[in-house]
Amino acid sequence: MTRKIIIDTDPGVDDAIAVFMAFACSSFDVVGLTSVYGNLPIDITTDNARRFVELAGRPEVPVARGADRPLVVDDIGPVPFIHGDNGLGNAAVHDPSVELAPLHAAEFIYQMALAHPGEITLVPVGPLTNIALALRLHPDLPGLVDEVVIMGGNAYAPGNASPGGEANMLHDPEAADIVLGEDWPITMVGLDITNDVALDHAQLAAISAIDSPPNQLLGAAMPFYQAFYEDNLEGFEGLSPHDAVALVYLLEPELFTTVRKPLRVELTGFGKGKTWPADPYHLTQPGSPWAGRPDVTICTGGDAQAISERITRELTQGS
Ligand code: BDR
Ligand code: CA
Repeated sequence: MTRKIIIDTDPGVDDAIAVFMAFACSSFDVVGLTSVYGNLPIDITTDNARRFVELAGRPEVPVARGADRPLVVDDIGPVPFIHGDNGLGNAAVHDPSVELAPLHAAEFIYQMALAHPGEITLVPVGPLTNIALALRLHPDLPGLVDEVVIMGGNAYAPGNASPGGEANMLHDPEAADIVLGEDWPITMVGLDITNDVALDHAQLAAISAIDSPPNQLLGAAMPFYQAFYEDNLEGFEGLSPHDAVALVYLLEPELFTTVRKPLRVELTGFGKGKTWPADPYHLTQPGSPWAGRPDVTICTGGDAQAISERITRELTQGS
């Protein structure tokens, strides 16, 4: 079965890995990319999304530009030291020429869901600002989508952008709290599993060896991002393909362990951006912050090796 997906993305090297994996995989029908600020400012992430559809040979796939800042808080700012000044590891890139869709990302998401009721899966892999805006503008959105699988959050693992917060949550905790509090089929693929997944040197070499425009860009972009991981995480070899792990969840959910619990996102203080799961006894406490919140499927672990192999396979198939 082919699944219609919209990837909401802030490219970002691991975003590039995810988007090209989605285009390469016959199980996915990518019906749109929506951009959001995050790893880099919105002008840069949007241009990268436009580049992706061109390099993938899919210029007809709409790209809709989204939010340039969080809903409420000041942004924590871009991370060129992780993804490069251009979000693509400072690889040489072309000027994109595809036109943008004439809709804000939040409106684009809703209009696509309306046009294909029950068929669209949202895959947000950046700050959740566009998705929260779409929910606020169109409260009927949850009834129109098939599923939502986000990369972000940390239920039991420490944060990566701060001791408490995962980057996508920390950029816009209010938006994340809205999205994770909505009653819709949502899965959080966060650091609890993505921290364990690495594309190792052999896998990176195999991906980079393919003579196609997407793989050649990845081959040029990944070393900068890889250096960040290897220089900063002791003993880590390769790079972390966080965003692509969310796509593997859609393809092979049996590779993941999950629990279902309500979540809150911490909005302020030094724990800002932390996603907190509730245990049943938390729900019975008076004034519980989780009262009335729906369960979220939370990935707590999985077969990290099989996940990295699946990403590699999708990016090298047909070679
Ligand atoms: C997430 O933050 C971004 O830097 C990555 O692209 C990924 O979406 C990982 O915490
Ligand atoms: Ca991302």
